[in-house]
Amino acid sequence: MFLSDNWYVAALGAELTTKPLSRQILGEHVAIFRNESGRIVALADQCPHRGYPLSLGTVVGDELVCGYHGFTFDCTGTCVAVPGQDRIPSRADVRSYAVVEQGPWVWIWTGRGEAEMSLLPSTPWLVDTENWSSVGGVAKIDAAFDLLVDNLLDLSHETFLHNGSIGTPEVASTPIEVEADEDSRVVRVFRHMNSVDCPLFYSRTTGLEGKVDRWQDIEYSPPGYYLLHSRIAPVGQPPLPDGTDDHAFHMKIFYGLTPSTEDSVYDFWALARDFCINDDEIDRFLEKMQTGVVQEDVDALNILQIRTSRVPEVNEVSIKIDRGGLSARRMLATMSDARGHP
Ligand SMILES: [Fe+2]
Repeated sequence: MFLSDNWYVAALGAELTTKPLSRQILGEHVAIFRNESGRIVALADQCPHRGYPLSLGTVVGDELVCGYHGFTFDCTGTCVAVPGQDRIPSRADVRSYAVVEQGPWVWIWTGRGEAEMSLLPSTPWLVDTENWSSVGGVAKIDAAFDLLVDNLLDLSHETFLHNGSIGTPEVASTPIEVEADEDSRVVRVFRHMNSVDCPLFYSRTTGLEGKVDRWQDIEYSPPGYYLLHSRIAPVGQPPLPDGTDDHAFHMKIFYGLTPSTEDSVYDFWALARDFCINDDEIDRFLEKMQTGVVQEDVDALNILQIRTSRVPEVNEVSIKIDRGGLSARRMLATMSDARGHP
């Protein structure tokens, strides 16, 4: 069962043109496109006439014309024309979804009721292009959503799975602090590593060599939004008491976790940094590195899905590093229970 009364990332803005994109989100097929006025539209990807995917249709002006028999829909999903007759059946409308473009990401409200704007994650770092530069991408994983939650909440896997890029021995060996804030519905995991080797991901981009202080502070807002505050600084220079932290390099690492089906998930990512602003070469480097890191996770989770679905009774052994992931599972279970699902 999906937690549908939420916002999820549906697409990268850069993916959307007047040629509709077909994406399965929380089990539903959705056609997403920009109409000729530039507005982003998301409609149920099935013509009510004979079920043909509307994503195979054509955008004409502000409307989408089905590629099979020409049923035509406006951006609210209202059917505005059918071939061969003036009368349009009242049941010919399709569902339209609320969408919001914020920085590189396009969010979709998958709930049945009115879109709850107060639940839309705020990502100011992805919008403030004067002070932050960002890159982003998406990967599809043939694994259940829960496996991606586990993966992101326990970064000790960086040491082993991502040891050529972001993983150093200290990620796994440094203890974490975990906070589950039930009221604001956030799981926080803190890992502050002091005087540790700077991995390639950061040495190449910050210019810092040798030892650094490296902080990883996770904020997971279940179900679909994850933000990692990464801080890289010269050794022994914490932020000042007033919060200013000018000698440090900051990166915000975002993940949009969007279930596609019960056993597949979209892994949207974005990196925003407050250094090397508008540096194309650093953009390309980070894009390449992060694409490689994400692919390592994709490969691992694809294998894990096959193993865990064939051997469903895996008896897990949890240890201290799992406290973030376990808190996230409990919060998701509570949210499911609140919806009346088993
Ligand atoms: Fe990973």
